[in-house]
Amino acid sequence: MMNILGIETSCDETAASIVTENRKILSNVVKSQNEHHAPYGGVVPEIAARAHLVIVEAVVRQAIKEAKLDFSDLDGVAATCGPGLIGGVIVGSMLGKAISAARKIPFVAANHLEGHALTARLTHNIQFPYLVLLLSGGHSQFIIVEEVGEYQIIGNTIDDALGEAFDKVAKMLGIGFPGGPAVEKMASFGSPGRFNLPRPLRGRENSDFSFSGLKTSVRNKIEQSKNGTFSEKDIQDLCSDFQYAVSDVIKDRVLNALNIFSKKYPNCEKLVLCGGVASNQMIRTTLEQSVQTLGVNLVAPPINLCTDNGAMIAWVGVERLKLGLSNTLDFKPRPRWSLEEL
Ligand code: KG4
Ligand code: ZN
Repeated sequence: MMNILGIETSCDETAASIVTENRKILSNVVKSQNEHHAPYGGVVPEIAARAHLVIVEAVVRQAIKEAKLDFSDLDGVAATCGPGLIGGVIVGSMLGKAISAARKIPFVAANHLEGHALTARLTHNIQFPYLVLLLSGGHSQFIIVEEVGEYQIIGNTIDDALGEAFDKVAKMLGIGFPGGPAVEKMASFGSPGRFNLPRPLRGRENSDFSFSGLKTSVRNKIEQSKNGTFSEKDIQDLCSDFQYAVSDVIKDRVLNALNIFSKKYPNCEKLVLCGGVASNQMIRTTLEQSVQTLGVNLVAPPINLCTDNGAMIAWVGVERLKLGLSNTLDFKPRPRWSLEEL
């Protein structure tokens, strides 16, 4: 039974986890850097890299300890080698390579997006092929997952990622970082319908996204507010309208994506939702209801496995090592690395 260590450092979570070949998560340690980035309202790459460097070794040791294992019990190590903020990626991938060299165990250069895309096989054991909607801070994509390493992107954002839009809206409103949970919380106290926000690309033929115009529209609403003041109630209502606009767009885009998928693979039964934005309860529920009318089930990993974590990277290691796929230690970390290049 393989025990695989996964290390994730591509954004602002320092994470490590041990996952077994038979889908057991023995440990899953995630240290967020929120307090480092909150004063800036966004992730500062240099601060992120340094913060990873300070704690990554302790996080890995904690993951091994919580799994009640030792370094000698590891059968392989996977570390995120991209895409992401390059300073952090270098920190995590170097540690992964060092453990691989010291223990003489195979190294897997994990693609962070492959981690998100394959998580549903760890949590729900779902079979290929399937359609994934990845909504994170850096990506908003529909991905056909055909096999390990075989991905086709059938929809993408043409500007901002959805998580990025949530973060920027929260920053404009001054309601905290990370933006997604802050907007969701405010929206839960607000009522929709006061602000007339656009639904970008709704009704278009393909399954692409665009969120930059929606974000600009939010900015205009704030600037147009009476005497430049925006009350707590205004913020709550605007967040509620923003979530409704986003949900409407997703509902529309997902229908096209399911159509495109079904042309290649008839009888689509499942849609997998993943990435940090998948934590949003309203997005989950509206998506679930709209695909159910088509006989499609929404599969969404638990929230702690939707946001960045080490288990999804360890799982990439399991999937790849089971196929005999590993990487040499001269693998170069990459800030950009599309799933289609795998
Ligand atoms: O997947 P993830 O943890 O990191 C990336 O790979 O980007 O996603 C982080 C993103 C952030 O933009 C964050 O604001 C967003 O996911 N997010 C949410 C929620 N929780 C996290 N967006 C909307 N609602 C949430 N509850
Ligand atoms: Zn991510």
